[in-house]
Amino acid sequence: MLKGKNILLCVSGGIAAYKMADVASILYKLEADVHVCMTKNAEKFITAETFSVLTKNKVYSDVFDENPDDYVNVPHISLGTNADLILVAPASADIIGKLAGGIADDMVSTVVLPARCPILIAPSMNVYMYENRIVQDNLKKLKNFGFKIIEPATGHLACGYDGKGKLPSPEALVEEILLEVSSEKDLAGKKILVNAGPTCESIDPVRFITNHSSGKMGYALAKAAALRGGEVTLVSGPVSLDTPAGVRRIDVVTAQDMYEAMTENAPDNDIIIMAAAVADYTPVNTADQKIKKSDGDMQIELKRTNDILKTVGASKKKNQKIIGFSMETENLLENSRKKLDSKNCDMICANSLRTPGAGYQVDTNIITLITKEGNTELPLMSKLEAANKIFDHILEM
Ligand code: CTP
Repeated sequence: MLKGKNILLCVSGGIAAYKMADVASILYKLEADVHVCMTKNAEKFITAETFSVLTKNKVYSDVFDENPDDYVNVPHISLGTNADLILVAPASADIIGKLAGGIADDMVSTVVLPARCPILIAPSMNVYMYENRIVQDNLKKLKNFGFKIIEPATGHLACGYDGKGKLPSPEALVEEILLEVSSEKDLAGKKILVNAGPTCESIDPVRFITNHSSGKMGYALAKAAALRGGEVTLVSGPVSLDTPAGVRRIDVVTAQDMYEAMTENAPDNDIIIMAAAVADYTPVNTADQKIKKSDGDMQIELKRTNDILKTVGASKKKNQKIIGFSMETENLLENSRKKLDSKNCDMICANSLRTPGAGYQVDTNIITLITKEGNTELPLMSKLEAANKIFDHILEM
């Protein structure tokens, strides 16, 4: 995903510097050309050798270091100017202050100044240092200058305090990098609404009716759209997946919650994709207390939920594109095409539960894209690849 991209990691002095070895390694495996520069204090937490072994590139921590193969381009300038993206992580209060003040007195603060590429700053420090108004003011200043600030995570900090100040996981940092540089931004300026996952309909405080949806297809769509520069809102039923970087997530539980969130957000969006497995029926009554068993059988009376796709399709605006999903166990194409008309969609993504490699829980899918013009069969691919194919098709439409 990062072939041909030059990514510069700027590591400053904080205990979370150890996480940057994983970041460097993941980026290298994604085929980026990874460079690292460090402050002298960062070297107290992790060695330059760790990074040079992982990246196969020389690591710099001294402004006067030369590149023995190239005496023309001095590293304290060329590292920043050659980069497609810079990540400063962990960004200590000190380096944030220097960058905000335009000071260049160590390798990290110096390489950032001449850079022309996107620069991400991942603050990591003690919670009270992070909340300090001077640090916050410096971060605001960097944001106004066009730096992107990655919010620290909250949790137990190495200094013994609990609070905000943790460096996000290496995977989350890599997601932020991918968001900036991995794809062509052909969805820039487009607002995209996706729903995902199952809904849960309560019978009593203990039991509920749900389905096997894992949310993976909808999350892959949200991720692909964000990577391609779209402004993405994800309405999610209960799933155990991380929110893709750059995506606004609204959590819902029931079909009615999902109906309300989708109908409220739909009018503002250009592309609406319904990948959620919404319950078609919900209990007429939900008991306040746990239902105790009796000797005989029991029946649960169910009523129909709203069909969200049909509702949104009925008030479709001229320039909106609405895409539904269809999961069938028989007569896949015939049944799915009926949904294209009855729900007023531009496309139905049909997937069969009976085909190996497609359906719930798995990371792959086999989809047929059904439009008024005809059917396009996609082969077995990852859900992220399938999501990208779906967006390619939407853009062609
Ligand atoms: N859908 C919806 N609201 C519902 C049920 C389904 O918006 N109450 C959407 C799904 O998110 C999907 C599409 O409608 O995009 C088709 O869903 P599917 O379950 O395959 O079909 P149904 O319309 O529910 O019809 P059936 O269950 O009879 O196959």
